[in-house]
Amino acid sequence: MISFQIRPLARPLIGKIFPPPDKSITHRALILSAISKGKTKIRNFAFNDDCLATLYAFRSLGVRIKIYQSRIFIYGKGLKGLTRPLKAISAGESGTTMRLLLGVLAGQVFRTRLIAEKSLSRRPMLRVIAPLRRMGAKIKSKVKTQKSRREEYPPITIKGGNLKAITYKMPVASAQVKSALLLAGLYCAGTTRIIEPIKTRDHTERMLKLFGAAIKKKANTVSIRGGVELISPSLIDIPGDISCASFFLVAATIIPGSHLVLKSVGLNPTRIGIIRVLKRMGADIKIQKSPTKAGSRKMREKIKNQNYEPRGDLIVKGSLLKATTVKKDEIPSLIDELPILMVAACQAKERTVFEGIEELRLKETDRINSMMQNLRKMGAKIQLIQRNSRLVMRITGAKPLIGTKVSSFGDHRTAMSMVIAGLVASGQTRVDDVGCIKKSFPDFLKVLGSLRD
Ligand code: S3P
Repeated sequence: MISFQIRPLARPLIGKIFPPPDKSITHRALILSAISKGKTKIRNFAFNDDCLATLYAFRSLGVRIKIYQSRIFIYGKGLKGLTRPLKAISAGESGTTMRLLLGVLAGQVFRTRLIAEKSLSRRPMLRVIAPLRRMGAKIKSKVKTQKSRREEYPPITIKGGNLKAITYKMPVASAQVKSALLLAGLYCAGTTRIIEPIKTRDHTERMLKLFGAAIKKKANTVSIRGGVELISPSLIDIPGDISCASFFLVAATIIPGSHLVLKSVGLNPTRIGIIRVLKRMGADIKIQKSPTKAGSRKMREKIKNQNYEPRGDLIVKGSLLKATTVKKDEIPSLIDELPILMVAACQAKERTVFEGIEELRLKETDRINSMMQNLRKMGAKIQLIQRNSRLVMRITGAKPLIGTKVSSFGDHRTAMSMVIAGLVASGQTRVDDVGCIKKSFPDFLKVLGSLRD
């Protein structure tokens, strides 16, 4: 188990960084390239454990994928070209791999067994399995009943084919569930309609459009007509990951005198809740267009593909923060940024409130528990209140954090958030078990080191 020690910074964070490519978008680019017609080059591929799990999964399903430095070439098999894997496919610790793959496998006539590592084996799958069963997929999994609530977990065996289109009103706001159903919808006769309780990230919808799918959006409803072959756009360029950038957005905001430029970051409106909330708290964040030059045909093609997702440079400077209330409707647009926002809230004047954060319990670890235990250990004042089925967290900030020994709980985002907390705490902070960071941002400590030296 690797631990990491941090001392408060003697000077501000100043410099320019390129956050790693977006994890969510990379998963989608791989999946659609694999099941479309034609060859796709993915530029700026996110080489992290999760995206590699998706890559290996499609290799097991008979898709030829070549890797050249930061580029990937995928030789698409079309909607019906995947082949039965020789053995079980491991999704590793990647929830996105497992849930989105279930959507694709629901459309395949062969049987596949999906297995998972430790923390993913404890994450709920019924939210995807139930609607896929309604569409006609045959799915078996590990069933557990707790306090008379039935839930299903990996390993999962799925056999699909012959799906029927459904209209599905999602009980929880989840981009993974929506995406799995859209992917299954590609294989249905007729139109599948999915209604979201709150809008979640729309990367799957945008990517499907780029591949020519018959997809429509109206308010919170997405519909997709099945049976339409996807055509590769040839080249996909992945923007930087706003979730990875957010650790540096907060770090530069809470360390006085800092000035960071975060280059070419994905700024999809369904993902930038962190920017909206930090600005409301008084952060100095400016968005600048990433410069693109029109020119050769190749360059124009590149620009066209870049436009499938908005991107820009973020300029952030140190500033004093004041408290805010983060409403339940905002949660999906910053779900993965809640741990680092909690660190920001510890530095803000007065009481910050996070409403409706119960989904955080179901991530790689229970992030409410991991962050509350760690930040309380560092002296933060945090309250958790249950309001019916909703959880509300209140953090009273502006009290200096005290360096101590904290844990990642095996969760990448808890680990990175606690490293940033350590930068503003007094004395030394030790974060145990930081190996998990490679799930999403393998170079995180290196990038941070480059700004400190
Ligand atoms: C993701 C969706 C979110 C997010 C996860 C990635 C995606 O999960 O927390 O890190 O790529 O679709 P949920 O769909 O469970 O909210």
